[in-house]
Amino acid sequence: MDLETLLFSQGFGSRRQCRGLVAEGRVCIGGDVCADPHARISLTPSPEFKVDGHAWTYREKAYIALNKPPGYECSRDPQHHLSIFHLLPPQLIERGVQPVGRLDQDTTGLLLLSDDGAFVHAFTSPKRKVPKLYLATTRHPIDDAQLARLVEGVLLHGETKPSAALAATRRDEHLLELTVQEGKYHQVKRMVAAAGNRVEKLHRERVGGYALPESLAEGAWRWLDETDLAALRDSRTS
Ligand code: URA
Repeated sequence: MDLETLLFSQGFGSRRQCRGLVAEGRVCIGGDVCADPHARISLTPSPEFKVDGHAWTYREKAYIALNKPPGYECSRDPQHHLSIFHLLPPQLIERGVQPVGRLDQDTTGLLLLSDDGAFVHAFTSPKRKVPKLYLATTRHPIDDAQLARLVEGVLLHGETKPSAALAATRRDEHLLELTVQEGKYHQVKRMVAAAGNRVEKLHRERVGGYALPESLAEGAWRWLDETDLAALRDSRTS
């Protein structure tokens, strides 16, 4: 692949802008400035390069975990809040990453994003049944009857079949740990309401077998590697 195409594929702007970056001497490969946009770059191993001193590694597809803060909408065109896209560098937005399912603006925690359409589709498809673990802070104390109802299934307004949690446990009097497979609109909030309680705060801790890393600060993002992607595909719940 030539250098211009490599930069273009990684979200550094139009071909013309990428050519300009190279011609202006702003791109380094292996520690040296490379001013030739047509220089051939081997993709194995994944090349590392710098643009304006910032280090990047070539990635064919982008897989991202974001620790979503409250007050951000999972939309490019937010109505009332900031957009989660404000938390990402322009290169990722230019590459067309999109959220893998959505979280409500007030929900925090693990949000996946990717520019791999097949991956996004597979993980959001109702057929895939990826378990997602949420922590819900509830207004009222959580009792055994509510836990039982959540696992047996509750009928949500406008639905014909009950929605059941894979698991529902009490971490604390007001802290519910709920694992669900579906991804319906306001799924957890509606299920908890139908079980006789109310969600005051909601946090997603895990998708598949991939847990939000403790080291990932609120508002920060990181690349997912092969090990993370394998964990994501692991649908066991414990
Ligand atoms: N369920 C909800 O109610 N909200 C979310 O953001 C995610 C799951």
